Amino acid sequence: MTYYDQVADAAASLDCRLGSLAPAIGVVLGSGLGAVADAVSATVVIPYADIPHFPQSTVEGHSGRIVCGMLAGVPVIVMQGRVHYYEGYTPLQVTFPIRVLGALGLRAVVLTNAAGGIAENYRVGQLVLLGDHINMMGWNPLLGPNEPRFGFRPGSGLRFFDMTEAYSKPLRALARQTAEEEGFTLEEGVYLATAGPSFETPAEVRAFRALGATLVGMSTVPETLVARHMGIEVLGISCVTNLAAGLSPTPLSHQEVTETGRQVESRLAALLQRLAPKIAAHLEANP
Ligand code: HPA
Repeated sequence: MTYYDQVADAAASLDCRLGSLAPAIGVVLGSGLGAVADAVSATVVIPYADIPHFPQSTVEGHSGRIVCGMLAGVPVIVMQGRVHYYEGYTPLQVTFPIRVLGALGLRAVVLTNAAGGIAENYRVGQLVLLGDHINMMGWNPLLGPNEPRFGFRPGSGLRFFDMTEAYSKPLRALARQTAEEEGFTLEEGVYLATAGPSFETPAEVRAFRALGATLVGMSTVPETLVARHMGIEVLGISCVTNLAAGLSPTPLSHQEVTETGRQVESRLAALLQRLAPKIAAHLEANP
């Protein structure tokens, strides 16, 4: 079975189980941020293990299931947990879930993650909007023959495509406005992705800062790349779970990452709840 056929197979299996729900918006929840799915009501819950060809998350803090239902009256599909390259998955496996969302006809995805803060002014627990990214993973999930059938949206599925606005400008504006309504300010940052799994050295963090990065993490960039390949609009939100290596007196740990995530997830849930209807209206106004 080809990769494309596996994606179609997984999408067909999900489609069956979603019944009349027709979500246009997907949300991927990063480390420690899984409880955001609790804000979704009238849910259909599907463990990744029950979806054909779906990769299984092996990381603590990533539960590995799809939660589909209504978020503030808007049908959404939430992926509670993602898989990473450092777990030993191939780039095609890492991006498989996003391909499936594309095959289901999704128009926008909100990609959330836990990240180390590089910018001097970032505080632990802060949410930061992704304005752009730097791919330092050493690979690209689109390497290899192009599969034009992934062009689910008009003008997408191309071999070469523009990344000038990888993170949707209109969605960023809506997110900033929504955060103000919630009483906080969403800054925009530049997310740099490494392969992981080790955290960075202080010298690497200084190098990444010199390159223009304000956040560092081990996910999201491959997902953004395949989403853009399919013409899906992307909104990226990082939770600064820790200051990057060398910026804090204490050593980094995965525990710190998941604990900070837990403290921030209710704020993220409130933001997404208020934002979902605005994203839906944006999509309706731009068919
Ligand atoms: N570095 C890389 N990835 C991360 C970090 C970090 O400091 N925090 C959470 N994910």
